[in-house]
Formats: sequence, C-alpha cells, structure tokens
Amino acid sequence: MQPSQDKTQLRFLTCGSVDDGKSTLIGRLLYDTGCLFEDQISSLRCESERKNADGRLDFSLVMDGLLAEREQGITIDVAYRYFETKNRKFIVADAPGHEQYTRNMATGASNSEAAVVLTDARNGLLAQTARHTYIAALMGIRHIALAVNKMDLVGWSRDIFDKISNDYEGIIKKLEPDSGELFVTCIPLSALEGDNVFARGDAAPWYRGPTLAEYLETVEPGDVTAGIKPGPFRMPVQWVNRPNANFRGYSGAITGGTIRARDEIIILPSGQKNTVQSIIVSGQERSAAERGEAVTISVTEETDISRGDFLSDPRDVPDVTDHFRAAIIWMSEDKLLPGREYVMKISNRTAPAAVTEIRGRMNVLTLSMEPAKTLAKNEIGICNVKTQTPIVCEPYLKNRESGGFILMDRVTNDTVGAGMIRYSLRRASNVTWHSFEITKEARARLMGQTPRILWFTGLSGSGKSTMANLVDKKLFLMGRHSYVLDGDNVRHGLNKDLGFTEEDRVKNIHRVSEVAKLMVDAGLIVLAAFISPFQRDREFARSLFAPGEFIEVFVDTPLEVCERRDPKGLYKKARTGEIPNFTGINAPYERPDHPELIVNGNGSAEEEAERIVKFLENFGDCG
Ligand code: ADX
Repeated sequence: MQPSQDKTQLRFLTCGSVDDGKSTLIGRLLYDTGCLFEDQISSLRCESERKNADGRLDFSLVMDGLLAEREQGITIDVAYRYFETKNRKFIVADAPGHEQYTRNMATGASNSEAAVVLTDARNGLLAQTARHTYIAALMGIRHIALAVNKMDLVGWSRDIFDKISNDYEGIIKKLEPDSGELFVTCIPLSALEGDNVFARGDAAPWYRGPTLAEYLETVEPGDVTAGIKPGPFRMPVQWVNRPNANFRGYSGAITGGTIRARDEIIILPSGQKNTVQSIIVSGQERSAAERGEAVTISVTEETDISRGDFLSDPRDVPDVTDHFRAAIIWMSEDKLLPGREYVMKISNRTAPAAVTEIRGRMNVLTLSMEPAKTLAKNEIGICNVKTQTPIVCEPYLKNRESGGFILMDRVTNDTVGAGMIRYSLRRASNVTWHSFEITKEARARLMGQTPRILWFTGLSGSGKSTMANLVDKKLFLMGRHSYVLDGDNVRHGLNKDLGFTEEDRVKNIHRVSEVAKLMVDAGLIVLAAFISPFQRDREFARSLFAPGEFIEVFVDTPLEVCERRDPKGLYKKARTGEIPNFTGINAPYERPDHPELIVNGNGSAEEEAERIVKFLENFGDCG
C-alpha cells in the first residue's frame, strides 16, 4: 500500500435502510479492506456461525455491533466509519435512513463529496430513494452512485437493473433544474455475496461499468461538488491577533480559494480594499495558504478590521444582503412560523432573522413543491429570509461555508433549522435607512418627553385596554403626547386579514410592534394593549427598541376573574366550542418571566393606572 499521507481522501455518505442491505454493505467494505479489528472479526465469525448453519460471514453483524455503540450514546447523529484502499482513504458518513432522521442525513451530507444510495433490486425504486437523493443533492453532493443491491435475489436480471437505472434517471431529471447537473453511476451488486463490491465476480458478465470500490477509488468530486472546488478566496475573521504594538493580524480559517502575499483583498461589509503583507500558518511565515488552513494574515494599509468581518478576493465578491431566498430544513418540534424571529448563525456572524414568506414546501416523496404556511419537523421549504442586519453570504452551491446557515431559538439557543442560501433578493446597499435630519431625539425634545412604549399583555378581559386608556387620559392631562394601539381596534384595520391561529397572532404582534416603533420614532409614548400570548413575540417586540424604551406591563388577572367578567361574552362562546383557539381556554398564554411592571387586574384600575404613571415619572418622562 501507498503510505497513508500520499493518499487522496474521499468523504462519502451512504443512504438507505437496513432492509436495503446498508449494514451488510458497509460491513463488507470494512472487512474486505482489512479495516476491522481482530476482536471485531472474531466476534463476527462467532456470531455468524451461531446465526448461519453454513457459517457464512454475516457482515450486517459488524454494523449491529457498531449500532450498539450508537445506542449507548457514543455516536448519536451520524456515525463516521473509516477505511482505506491502495490509493485512497475513505470517511463514510452513515446516517439512519428513515424520514424522522432527515436532519441527521443532512448533517452527514453537508460535509460529504459523494453519496452511495442503496436500493433493493427486488423492490425497485422506493419513494425513500427519491428522498435520499433529493437531500444529497440539496446538500451540494453532485456525484451519486446508485447501488442496486441484492441482485443475487433477482437472478442478476439485466432487465430489472435496466428498469431501475431508467427510473432513477427520471428522478435525477426532476432534481437537476434545482441542483445543477448530477453525475450518476448505477452499479448492480450483492453486498452479501460480494459481487461488484470489490471483486467483479462473474455473476453479471453484461455489466461493464465499475465495481463500487473502483467507483469510490476514482470518482473526482473536487471539480463540481459544492464548496469543494477551490473557488475564490474567502476568509471570515474569527479574531484579531495583536501580540504586541508592532503586529496586528487577522486570524481565521480559509473557507475558499488560495491567498498569497501581495494579493489584493476586499473587506466586507465595509468594502474597503487592502493588500496582504504576510501569511502565518502554525507560527511559520508562508508565501501562500489555501482552503481549509487556519491562518493569520497581516495587511499593508492600516484599516479597521474586526471579528465578524469577511475577507474576500476583490474580483469575485460574495453578497452583502439582508434578504435572500434559501432552502430550509426544519428540525424543531415547534413549527417554523413566518414572521417569528430566530437567531441566524452564518460563517462568523449571528443576526436576528425571520422567514418573511414560505414559497413552498418540498414533497420529498413526489419531488414536487406544495404550498405551505408553516414547516413542521423534518420538512424542507423554500423560503424568503430577512435578517435584521446585513450578512455576507453567497449561494450554497458555490460555497458551503458562506452559503450554509443555522437558525437557533432566541430563548433556548437550540438549533431549530438549517438553511442553504439560493440567492440574495436584494443588496443591502439598496436599502439604506434614510437618516432624516430631524431625529427622534429632536422630536422628543420638541414634545418635552422621552418616547417609550408600554406593552400591556394579559388574558382577554384582564383589563389591558381599560388600563391603557386610563394611563392615556392621565398623560394627556399632563400635556404628554401618547397614543393607544389596541388589539380590538387594530384588528379592524391594519390586521383585519388576521385571525387567532398561532401564525396569525405572530403576524399581528410583529406588525403592531413595527407600527409602535415608528410611533416611538415620531416621539410618542405608545400604549400597546395586546394579549400577545407568546413570550418569543413579546421578546421580538422588545428587540426593536432601545434599551429601557420598552416597558412590559403584565396585567395579571386570574382566568376565573376574566371569565366571570366576560365583557364581550367570548368566554361563554369559547366554552361551548363556538370560538376555537381562545386564549386561556383552548389556546396557551405564556406568562412573562420578567416584566418591568405587574399590574393587579383585580384591584382598583384607577390606582393601578396612577402607579404606572408614577413608574414613568420615575423614569423622568413625565415630570
Ligand atoms: S393577540 O393574541 O393576537 O395578541 P389581540 O390582543 O390582538 O390578540 O386580540 C384579542 C381580542 O380579540 C380579545 O380581547 C377578544 O376580544 C378578541 N378575540 C376574538 N377571538 C379570540 C380568540 N380566539 N382568542 C383571543 N381573543 C379573541
């Protein structure tokens, strides 16, 4: 064998289920290449003898042993297996194939260069073969081998193999408009008997293509597979390295292309140009470095470069944008809701982000797009995404690192989705917020007050509107400029298209928050009275305002009291089932964790309103 360090390396994904013979195939690859340990082989012999009268080795047992590992929690998401042949080293990403493991398969695919999709010759192509191929293509894999397994059980029928290959062509044709050209090789084999895995065997003299091992040893994905071809220079700055006053370097991993001393670079998002002075890799100065290396770069002109900036080849620059189209794989039990805000993490940056529109959901079994309002766990949607601040990005199929992102829950920080950018919808440079000369501060000075928002939340009938109106009157009498935004009113105008489903409530709160923000910008004290039952949406509202500007007022009136009051007769109707999704009855209300103020909705409204005004006075607004 060649010394290990001279060998090329291939990372590939295997897709298929145990029934397709995936365990047997991987077990055989490991065994035939001598990559199993002695103890694994002897236990394989022993177990096989116990299971098969003829003592024939059952390679799926190897994987069963490894599976047990997985069950013990050693590898949870994707299991990686390693083997090598004369010319190459292989890393196999082995992810479970069932639909509930879409996330794991996507993870395995995202760093693979090729995929082996397994199918059982007796069953022909199954819907899940389409799903596996779609996910592989979505994650940027262009080289796919269709391993038509168990050919021994169909008598090595050429007709059956040809039919499966033709059907697979059909699937590929459907995917290519989206994924770009896919390079497919169909291989008839028997993982159990070994034919066409390593040895050709003489079972199918009609087959002239490569064995699976020949395919894996020769496939060259580097030229086409997303993020693997060298591409233009890219480097997100992870930190600024300043060991002493004489040196300032920018450190990070190169995620695309090559960089040489004296190359010109552009710094994003600022757009300033500069020139590379020195490149340091592991403490040694170098004349060049390439994709995958961790480097420190110094530049000739003194400029302001900081963590979160992005260095690029000036001749081929990624986009700086805050609105783009992306494919999103949803991973959370809570549905993806358009308008709800998540935290997006891309390269070295995070930004608040929301899906503004779901353009369609992929039916992964029929490979067609369907309309959708939300995405459930394991569903894949094509979405428009808006970030609160511009990000540096480019199409995922051009560079996996600068085109791939994750979405996290704002509160728990759990990863809830993974996205692949298709294209940007507009460049950030087109959307500069016009800075009028009359600022918020200037307006506020003229009005003699500090603009703020009091956000009243609580159950229907808790007294939010009553309280907001009382405070409004008191402020008016004090000569303040205030305005009440109220659920019942807004829902007759701006939000008359919205009902009370979770999605609609999210939209209701988001639109109202934006309106409130404009009003605060105009210098007003805004009193917003909305049930706003979800913590995340109230947090979103808060995030639009400057620190201290947003005051959450929880009108804490027990459900029994609200129901007894029932000012609009709605609780009665909700109890008899006439109104679905009624907050407190058959829809949730999440109590605020840390509101600035808690109002006793059971006490004297007059006194409580006075207390709120006092609270504002202490802030220095009303004195
Ligand atoms: S929110 O949940 O989206 O914040 P919002 O405050 O705008 O609700 O509107 C609540 C008002 O709508 C209630 O005070 C009540 O008068 C009315 N309403 C009608 N149907 C419902 C419902 N299913 N749940 C809650 N309120 C409802």
